[in-house]
Amino acid sequence: MADVTLLIHDLNAAVTPKGNGPLRGRNLGDLEIHSPASVAISGERIVAVGPPKEILDGIPAGVEFESIDGRGRVALPGLVDCHAHPVFLGDRAVEFELRTSGAAYEEIQAAGGGIRSTVAATRAGTEADLTAAVEKHLGWMLSHGTTTAEAKSGYGLDLDTELKSLNAIHAAAEMSPIDVHPTFLGAHTVPPEYEDAAKYIEFVIREVLPQATPLAQAGDVFLERGSFEAPEARRYLEACRENGLALRLHADQFSERGAIPLAIELAARSVDHLENTSEAGARMLAKSDVAAVLLPACALFLDLPLSPARLLADEGAIVALATDFNPGSSFCESLPLVMNLACTRLKLSPAEALTACTANAAHVLGLGDVGRLTPGYKADVLVLDAPDWRYLAYHLGSDRFAAKVKSGRVVS
Ligand code: NIG
Ligand code: FE
Repeated sequence: MADVTLLIHDLNAAVTPKGNGPLRGRNLGDLEIHSPASVAISGERIVAVGPPKEILDGIPAGVEFESIDGRGRVALPGLVDCHAHPVFLGDRAVEFELRTSGAAYEEIQAAGGGIRSTVAATRAGTEADLTAAVEKHLGWMLSHGTTTAEAKSGYGLDLDTELKSLNAIHAAAEMSPIDVHPTFLGAHTVPPEYEDAAKYIEFVIREVLPQATPLAQAGDVFLERGSFEAPEARRYLEACRENGLALRLHADQFSERGAIPLAIELAARSVDHLENTSEAGARMLAKSDVAAVLLPACALFLDLPLSPARLLADEGAIVALATDFNPGSSFCESLPLVMNLACTRLKLSPAEALTACTANAAHVLGLGDVGRLTPGYKADVLVLDAPDWRYLAYHLGSDRFAAKVKSGRVVS
C-alpha cells in the first residue's frame, strides 16, 4: 500500500455511495457498507477501505502515520453543498418576522425588499468585509460536515460588487479547509437602477460577464416571475456557455415557466428548487442528464410546497440535495438537517439522502473524485460520533463529529 499518512481504524462501519459518477433511479441509494472497517489515507487521497486487520497488514512495517480511533463510530464521505449563497452582508431578520404575521416572500420582494435589501447591504461593504463574511459562513458549514461547497455571487448585481463578491470567495477559500466552487449569479434579480430585465441582462453580458468568467466555474439565473423570464434566462445562459461556464438554474420555486425544457436544451448541470414543478416537468427532468437539486430547508423556511422528490427519484433523475444557504429564503448551513428533511418530508431514504449530499452533489459541481470513500477519491472523511451512519440524518439538528478530515488533513 502507498505510504499511509493517516489511518482511521476499527470503525463500526465505513459507508459510501457505490460505483462512480452520479447514481440515479433504483441505484440512487446504493451504498457500500464496510463493517467493521478502517480507512487508509495517503496524502490527499484514500488508498484503502476494508476490514481493519487486512488494512493494517497491508501497511509495511516501520511506516509512521497519524491515527484516529474509530471504535464505536462510523466514517462517511465529507458532505458536498452544491447550492449555497455565502457572500452577503446584513440579514433579513425583520423580513423573517414580517413573514410570521402573514407577509409573503414574493410580496416583500415586489415591495423592494427580499434579494434587493441584501444587495443594498452587500454593496455597502468592502471586499475585506465580504471576505470576512464568506470566511465566517464557510466555518459554519464546516462545523456541520461540509467539506466541499458551491459559493454563488448574486448580491452585487453591479460590476464592482459582483467582482468583489467573486474575489471574496477566492480569498476566503484560501483560508478555509473547504474546497469552494464559485458560481456567477449575475442574473439573480433585476437591481433597483434598472426597470427592464432585458436591458439589465444586456449590461451583465457586456460589462460583467467577461470579468466574472475567469473567477467562476458556472453561471446561474433565477428564472421566476419578478426576476427573469425564459427569453432573458436563455440569453444569459447562452452567453455564459459561450464563455465556457457550466450552467445552473434557480427555477420552479413559485411558478413553472419553461425552465426544465430550456435547461435540457442547453445541457445545464442542474435545475434547482422545483417546489412548483408539475408531474410532467418532473418526468421530463428525470429522463434527462440535468440534475434535480432539491432544497428542502428553503421549502421549510418559506413554507413552500414540497418538491416532487419521490417522483423524480423513481423516474430516474440525478437527485442532489443542498442547503441553499442565504439570508432570505434559507438561513441554514446544515446538510445533516437537510438530509433529515429529505427523509421526513420528501420521503427519500437515508441512503438516497446520503448519495444526494455526496456523490451526486459532487457531480453537480463537475467533480468525479469527491463524495465517496473509495480508493483514488479525495480523502474527505467525516467520523461520526455515533454507532450507526443513519444518525447523520436521524439525529435532528445535532450532528456530532469525532473528527473531520479534509484532503487527508485532520481539520477538527
Ligand atoms: O435560492 N431564489 C432565488 N434566490 C435565493 C434566495 C435569495 C434571497 O432571498 O436572498 C434562493 O432561494
Ligand atoms: Fe439559491
